[in-house]
Amino acid sequence: MKNTVAIGIQWGDEGKGKIVDLLAPQADIVARFQGGPNAGHTLVIDGEKTVLHLVPSGILHADTLCLIGNGTVVAPETLVDEMDTLRSAGVPVEERLRISDRCQLILPYHRALDAAREAAKGAGRIGTTGRGIGPAYEDKTARRGIRLVDLTSPQLRDKIEENLEWVNFQLTRYFNASPVTRPEVEQTLDIARERLLPLMADVSLILHEAHRNGASILFEGAQGAMLDVDFGTYPFVTSSNTVAGAAMAGLGVGPSMVDEVLGICKAYTTRVGAGPFPTELYNAEGMDDPSGRHLAERGNEFGSTTGRPRRTGWFDAVVVRHGVRVAGVTGLVITKLDVLDGLPEIKLCVAYEKDGERVDTVPADAMGLQACKPIYETFPGWSESTLGITSYDELPQAAKELLARIEQICDCPITMLSTGPDRSHIIHL
Ligand code: GDP
Ligand code: IMO
Ligand code: MG
Repeated sequence: MKNTVAIGIQWGDEGKGKIVDLLAPQADIVARFQGGPNAGHTLVIDGEKTVLHLVPSGILHADTLCLIGNGTVVAPETLVDEMDTLRSAGVPVEERLRISDRCQLILPYHRALDAAREAAKGAGRIGTTGRGIGPAYEDKTARRGIRLVDLTSPQLRDKIEENLEWVNFQLTRYFNASPVTRPEVEQTLDIARERLLPLMADVSLILHEAHRNGASILFEGAQGAMLDVDFGTYPFVTSSNTVAGAAMAGLGVGPSMVDEVLGICKAYTTRVGAGPFPTELYNAEGMDDPSGRHLAERGNEFGSTTGRPRRTGWFDAVVVRHGVRVAGVTGLVITKLDVLDGLPEIKLCVAYEKDGERVDTVPADAMGLQACKPIYETFPGWSESTLGITSYDELPQAAKELLARIEQICDCPITMLSTGPDRSHIIHL
């Protein structure tokens, strides 16, 4: 297999876990490069479901080495829980996993700050996953983060003391919240020392040596291009770059290592958390279009990390085109095609209208996008089931026509179609 970056190009949950798991046997290495336990990547093999947050989605394959890169933020408790769950399911996770020495650690005070900030914002909250992601990336950039390699440093005690002083000042004085205690932090650090230090490695070096020896590498993204801190619906985004370019800085490799970029997107759109969503049809706050409800129910649209109901809407080609461009996508993977089965008609948003003018690109400001009204093309639906179909020829004619238009309007070839949650439900084109 060529060295491939697999990323989401909508608002996350596009089915990245499934696609990475199914491509992993052809890769020698699967590497995560950004995000943290905000991600929830679902794998279904013969009906059995595994949800991964930090462990790369290649972990179920015996001959695939899994790497967690420096660009990720690691919550030791979450990672260890995940490792234990995998181990009890018979997966020798420690043998297959290495973690970058340069990874930032998410500590209890990051979660406390995340929660306090969201509570203080009230109705204006971002709707984060509450996993401490934003505060952990802030500490990284502010150069006060604690990295895995710091667990062996004699200066660690002083750094923690200094960080706690600053955090607790904010928590108690500004947010009127409870402080985080030193023993809470020490407990997390002990877990990391005991369970993660043995897996610590120079991930960049591993990748370079493997590449030199002809290994193939699959780079696994988290979130999606519309949640990218620069190119997403800022400030309703996550705190990392999620585009393909982030794979380089998040692992310590150069762009010459990448041969292709897969842009994964659903045949419709979903979003969890707040922020603009032009094609939205259905949400827990009272939007209740029947097609939107069909997508939510058939698609079982509940967050894999938080269990929150996902907002649903029609496929937005303006969004996907934006993702294709900012991430340099060379092939589209369309997932959840089967969820469209039984809809009388299907709409594609091909452009927006704003203040009487046609808009073909995603505006930089969230309010600008909020003001955009979708311009739709309408397609006939199909009544046949596409669930589990593995050959393009067997798809209903109406589905083929819809897909041809998606390819054309997004200006990118479709390379794979997913027709169900299981690893085997796939059409290679
Ligand atoms: P990720 O975060 O991108 O890995 O996606 P999630 O795992 O959060 O959400 C995708 C959900 O859709 C999971 O429950 C998958 O099992 C499921 N899924 C993936 N592909 C398909 C598909 O083609 N059809 C259906 N019906 N479900 C799918
Ligand atoms: P995967 O990898 C969907 C969303 C949150 C919130 C915003 C910021 O499974 O696709 P954060 O906790 O990152 O500070 O939250 O980003 N979000 C996701 N939405 N899928 C994800 O990951 C997400 N990770 C974060 O809902 O709107
Ligand atoms: Mg997910």
